[in-house]
Amino acid sequence: MNSPAAPLFSVRGLTKHFDGIKAVDSLSFDVAEGSITGIIGPNGAGKTTVFNIVTGLYRPTAGSVLFRGESITGLRPDRVVRRGIARTFQNIRLFNRRSCLDNVMTPLFQRERCSFLGSLLGTPSTRRMERELRERAVGLLQVLGLERFASTQADNLPYGFQRKLEIARALATEPSLLLLDEPAAGMNPEETRSLADLIAEVRERFQVTILLIEHHMDLVMNICSPIVVMNFGALLARGTPDEVRADPAVVAAYLGKGRGRR
Ligand SMILES: Nc1ncnc2c1ncn2[C@@H]1O[C@H](COP(=O)(O)OP(=O)(O)OP(=O)(O)O)[C@@H](O)[C@H]1O
Ligand SMILES: [Mg+2]
Repeated sequence: MNSPAAPLFSVRGLTKHFDGIKAVDSLSFDVAEGSITGIIGPNGAGKTTVFNIVTGLYRPTAGSVLFRGESITGLRPDRVVRRGIARTFQNIRLFNRRSCLDNVMTPLFQRERCSFLGSLLGTPSTRRMERELRERAVGLLQVLGLERFASTQADNLPYGFQRKLEIARALATEPSLLLLDEPAAGMNPEETRSLADLIAEVRERFQVTILLIEHHMDLVMNICSPIVVMNFGALLARGTPDEVRADPAVVAAYLGKGRGRR
């Protein structure tokens, strides 16, 4: 019998304490390559803290993060990106005063390690590289339906489009694992449905595995499997949408209480 494929990503016994609060409490779960895995749970359950640990913003109090079978626990954020993990933020973090195109080009530049001096001097090879990166950035804006906003300053974009721009920017680092923290926050039901289609398309097109935090249950139930349910920092349940929906502990802790705040 074939053994199941090793997971792309795992957390093992992950724990984070803040002044006596157990924000994440001995959490373990796996993410299979190619999946869109969901993380749900009530406000304050520790979801974002998991992303902050994985991406090197916080050091865990205990436990480990494994990516492609290797520990990446405690790696610096830029190293985590180089390993192939990118994220978006619950509280959008864009270069507000720069154009959408610039927002996507910056990580491309960083990835190619373009020299700032070369760029200032405008050497032929730098100009060629810049042209190529610009084309790639425009391509990413197109996929996310943002090409008409290429020269728009990021903070002038409608909120839902800023969330899409964050996804484009994350994709510019060519991740194999994309972490999305509430990508549909602030979106109406129609925008949320079209975002769900877009996320599924992004997975196919970029061959990227997705781990997605959401309060919009319709989005999670439609495109995520499995779903990891957190409560008070710990794992409450893990299963298919149907399994999670039918789990009495999940209903009691979460789904029964007005389905989150958004
Ligand atoms: N830097 C910090 N310092 C102190 N406490 C923190 C910090 N970050 C998170 N917490 C606390 O850890 C707990 C988990 O927060 P977290 O943001 O991870 O929850 P969440 O599941 O993402 O919630 P939400 O759905 O509201 O975004 C909360 O009690 C929060 O107040
Ligand atoms: Mg959060």
